[in-house]
Amino acid sequence: MAVPTTTTWKIDPHTLAKHQILSGYLKAWFGIVGNRFGQPIYVDGFCGPGRYPRGEPGSPLLALQAALEHQDVLRGGAIFHFTDYREDRIRNLRSEVDALAGTLPGCFQVQITTATFRDYISPKIEEWRGTPSLAPIFAFVDPRGYSGIPFSAIQGLLALPHAEVFITLMVDFLNRFLDHPNRDITEHILETYGTKEVLAIREGQGDRVGKLIDLYHRRLRSDTCAAHVLHFNMINRLNHILYSLFFATKHPLGLERMKDAMWKVDPQGDLSFADPKDRDSQQLSLLLSSDPADKLEEIIIAEFRGQQHVGVERVWRYVNETTIYQRKHMVTALRRAKQSGQIIAEPRKANGEKYIRGFPDEAVVSFTAGV
Ligand SMILES: C[S@@+](CC[C@H](N)C(=O)[O-])C[C@H]1O[C@@H](n2cnc3c(N)ncnc32)[C@H](O)[C@@H]1O
Repeated sequence: MAVPTTTTWKIDPHTLAKHQILSGYLKAWFGIVGNRFGQPIYVDGFCGPGRYPRGEPGSPLLALQAALEHQDVLRGGAIFHFTDYREDRIRNLRSEVDALAGTLPGCFQVQITTATFRDYISPKIEEWRGTPSLAPIFAFVDPRGYSGIPFSAIQGLLALPHAEVFITLMVDFLNRFLDHPNRDITEHILETYGTKEVLAIREGQGDRVGKLIDLYHRRLRSDTCAAHVLHFNMINRLNHILYSLFFATKHPLGLERMKDAMWKVDPQGDLSFADPKDRDSQQLSLLLSSDPADKLEEIIIAEFRGQQHVGVERVWRYVNETTIYQRKHMVTALRRAKQSGQIIAEPRKANGEKYIRGFPDEAVVSFTAGV
């Protein structure tokens, strides 16, 4: 994928899919946080020109649109930070936002700045750190490449209360540049990961893309204040990873809503998603048209095989926090596992009440030892 040099560029199917996810999630997020907190903050650190040549809205306009749909709960307003290092793209975005002047309520503050993400976000994080009762922050980090996203900035954002970060990483691109002799490129990659471990991947053998993804995932999970990290790959028909998407949040509800947004995407052309777990099974491609509950049934059985008296609440926590699947997929997977005798649903719930049907959190199941 070549990096466009013009102010705007033709939108591609994976960007449309990415936009559907972003927009779907923000529509849920503004509704939830608008109800509970004043003035949520949306950060778009690589905002682009705002609109694509055939009129498709870019991420900043999608964020404004999502917030506009929740004006009733956003009476305290919302704050938008849009930054891009290209002056021409920022100029384009300004005129797009100006065109919305009549529709944006006065309590929406839109700050549009020509700056690199790094230069803009560091002082902002400092400012926010000192802000009492800071509102929730959602940061969309969407570089077309691997540079300009210091891991320290991601850590700084996630250290703020209620902050969430959604990052798109072109790992394949990163993998190709990992061997580049130019020292500046190596420095960018080091900065993105914030650890020299990334250079060890360069020296090693095997699935480097997989290792790069795993390392970034591990860094987010272990070395930031995020309690949960959802990761999924956007792949093409050849099982080639176009993007790795990482969503880091402090709240399990955030995971649920992000998955809802992801599963709603209507795959266009040869686009699809893959659960990172599928890498191990040699069956990388999880086509949305295939039955996700089948795959999840395998994952659940592999995790819980032989375990007795397991609360469904625990199974759901595992599914929600470590896979891309939704609750409805888990319920179908458990129902099928029950039909095939791989699990036994116990007659009573954890609280002793009689268990009727379905798989509510309080239900208890036992997994057979299997083969
Ligand atoms: C993939 S595009 C963003 C598209 C936009 N988020 C959307 O979805 O419509 C990446 C943008 O990041 C900008 N960019 C690249 N490096 C940057 C950096 N270090 N800081 C800020 N912007 C950068 C580019 O000019 C480009 O407009």
